[in-house]
Amino acid sequence: MNILVIGRGGREHSLVQKLSESEQTDRIFAAPGNAGMEKIAECVVIDEGDHERLIAFAQQNEVGLTIVGPENPLLDGVVDRFVEAGLKVFGPSQAAALIEGSKHFAKQLMEKYHIPTAGYQAFEDIKNARAYIEEKGAPIVIKADGLAAGKGVVVAETVEEAVAAAEEMLENGQFGDASREIVVEEFLAGEEFSLMAFVNGEEVYPMVPAKDHKRAFDGDEGPNTGGMGAFAPVPQLTEKSYQTALHDIVTPVAAAMVEEGRSFTGILYAGLIETSEGPKVIEFNARFGDPETQVVLPLLQNDLVQVILDILDGRDPQLSWTNESCAGVVVASKGYPGAYEKGRLLPAISVEDDVFVVHAGTALDEKGYVSNGGRVLLVGSKGKTLADALSQTYHSVQVFDNFDDFFYRHDIGRSSVLSSASHSDEE
Ligand code: AMP
Ligand code: GLY
Repeated sequence: MNILVIGRGGREHSLVQKLSESEQTDRIFAAPGNAGMEKIAECVVIDEGDHERLIAFAQQNEVGLTIVGPENPLLDGVVDRFVEAGLKVFGPSQAAALIEGSKHFAKQLMEKYHIPTAGYQAFEDIKNARAYIEEKGAPIVIKADGLAAGKGVVVAETVEEAVAAAEEMLENGQFGDASREIVVEEFLAGEEFSLMAFVNGEEVYPMVPAKDHKRAFDGDEGPNTGGMGAFAPVPQLTEKSYQTALHDIVTPVAAAMVEEGRSFTGILYAGLIETSEGPKVIEFNARFGDPETQVVLPLLQNDLVQVILDILDGRDPQLSWTNESCAGVVVASKGYPGAYEKGRLLPAISVEDDVFVVHAGTALDEKGYVSNGGRVLLVGSKGKTLADALSQTYHSVQVFDNFDDFFYRHDIGRSSVLSSASHSDEE
């Protein structure tokens, strides 16, 4: 079967890698893809948003399955268009993708179906928003309703900061249409984790939980990024919390979407926080997480093509996971998530044992791979334990220490390794 993957990031490189391991795969196309995929996929110069050309390409190249990586085309209805054209596609409809595309919609859904999440109110008017913020006090969280490329959330430490963020969004149109409305939300404290699941209607098949590191610098300092590293599974997460997340959050949300006439097919991503009252929802995404996917897919033992075909046809894919761990560290261009330079030569990375490299912002020129984005690539490894996976990953990633143009975090997974070590001391 020929397969088309829509997207260009690390998540899509990881998908292409896993799909290429399937015996059912004939040709793999990536639109537009990235330089790192070129050995295993044919990159085609079509933008993720160009639905017409994507469909024409799929028809002309006998594509039997298309997988959509990023959220924007989903929210623009790419899946609906593929279905109308009679093409097999994996991802939610535009109506179902709204669970990611509108924070207000997601909050209303959770409220109606009693899904644990932070208390909130939504506003279009700054006066009412200001009054609510002043009544609730800080810390408090301000969120743009729509997609804002991961920049639409402000965790405000003071009332002044919260009001300023609300004003930026509502009055100054910081994110255009996406911040015509805001959600003002209670601040929740606890460990965050991500739980992704393959979903078709009410059927939910969970993946191993993962943890992302969103801040740019060590010790969770610095600005929020698209994600600086990840690992899976999450040792601090108790079986009880995992089961609660699955049975009180992900499963009922899938059922709620069916009930609302927005039946979800694809990957439902729950961003969760482990509070003193149990796990609560921070956000939903309608797609694979990035960089979570890069550390979760290597642990999947199934043929991913078969899993997706099973999900689309309503069969149980019988997911099977190794009991190893997987960790990944993102190498970013100096300056990211602010301004940075492109075109910097990348060193060769040694990929011994279970180490792997996933490209995101790279290009190939006559000298070799060069940087072409903020998050350049991810170095990852599987290991018997998280500590093993991390030590192999860091052994390889340290080649970047000699290159001033790049940086990476040195503490991915560290607090989890420390806390699981202290747990085993207690035993
Ligand atoms: P999001 O873009 O929704 O993933 O939010 C970005 C980050 O903001 C999350 O990963 C959390 O660290 C933080 N955040 C969002 N909502 C809350 C909340 N209600 N309480 C505490 N932190 C939050
Ligand atoms: N890692 C967070 C996301 O994919 O949105």
